[in-house]
Amino acid sequence: MTPARLRSFGWCVMTYLALLTAVKTLKFITLNTGIFDPVFRGKYDLHLPVILTHGVAAIAALVIGPFQFLPWLRRKFITLHRVLGRLYMLGVLVGGVTGFVMGAMAHGGLIAQTAFCIMATLWLLTGYRAIDTARRRRIGEHRAWMIRNYALTFGAVMLRVYLETLQYAGFSFETIYPWVAWGAWVPNLIAAELLAGRIQRRASAPVPASAPVPHLFGG
Ligand code: HEM
Repeated sequence: MTPARLRSFGWCVMTYLALLTAVKTLKFITLNTGIFDPVFRGKYDLHLPVILTHGVAAIAALVIGPFQFLPWLRRKFITLHRVLGRLYMLGVLVGGVTGFVMGAMAHGGLIAQTAFCIMATLWLLTGYRAIDTARRRRIGEHRAWMIRNYALTFGAVMLRVYLETLQYAGFSFETIYPWVAWGAWVPNLIAAELLAGRIQRRASAPVPASAPVPHLFGG
C-alpha cells in the first residue's frame, strides 16, 4: 500500500470510529437520566446540566475534527475550514471545562479522576496552542497542535472501545475503568507526538519557494 493510500485508509478508520461513537453516545443527550448506566445514574441525575453540556460540546468536536484534516476541503473551502475550526474549538473549550468538572468526580476513584482531569487540561492547552499558532499563521505548528488535540478528542472513542473489548474478554468494569481512563488517551498522545513532531520538523526545514504546501493527511 502506498503512503498516500495508507493515510486515506487511516483517515477512513478514524472517521468511521468517531462517527460511530458519536451516534452511540447521542442517546445521552436527553433529559431522561433513566437511560444512563446504573453506575453513573445517581451522579448524572445530580449534575444533569453539566453532563448534557459536556455531551453536546464534546460530541460536536468529535464529529467536526476529522473533516478539518482533509487537505482538499481546506484548499477549496477555506472559509468552511475556519467556521468549522471555531465550532470545533468551542466544543473543546466547553467540553474540556465540563470534562474537568466531571473528571474531578469521576467513577473509579483517584486513579480515574487524575486521568480525566489531566486529559481535560491537556485538551484545553493543546486547543489553545492550535488557535494561537493559526492566528500567527504558523501553519506547520498549527497542524501539529491540532493532531495532538484531536488525539485527545479521540480518547473518547478508545475509552469505549477498550471498555467494551475488555468486558467482552471477561474483565469486570470496576477493575478496568480506572486504568482505561489512562489507556484511552496516553497511547494516542504518544502516537500523535511521533506524527506531529515529524510534521513540525518538516515545516521548520528550509523549503524552496516553488515547493507545494504539505498537508496533514497528505504528506
Ligand atoms: C478529552 C476530554 C474529555 C474528558 C476529560 C472527558 C471526561 C468525562 C467524564 C469524567 C465523564 C463522566 C464519567 C464518570 O463519571 O466516570 C464523561 C462522560 C461523558 N463523555 Fe466525556 N470526556 C472527554 C471527551 C469526550 C468526548 C470527545 C466525547 C464525545 C463522544 C465525550 C462524551 C461523553 C458522554 C456522552 C458522556 C456521558 C455518557 C457516558 O458516561 O459515556 N467526552 N466524560
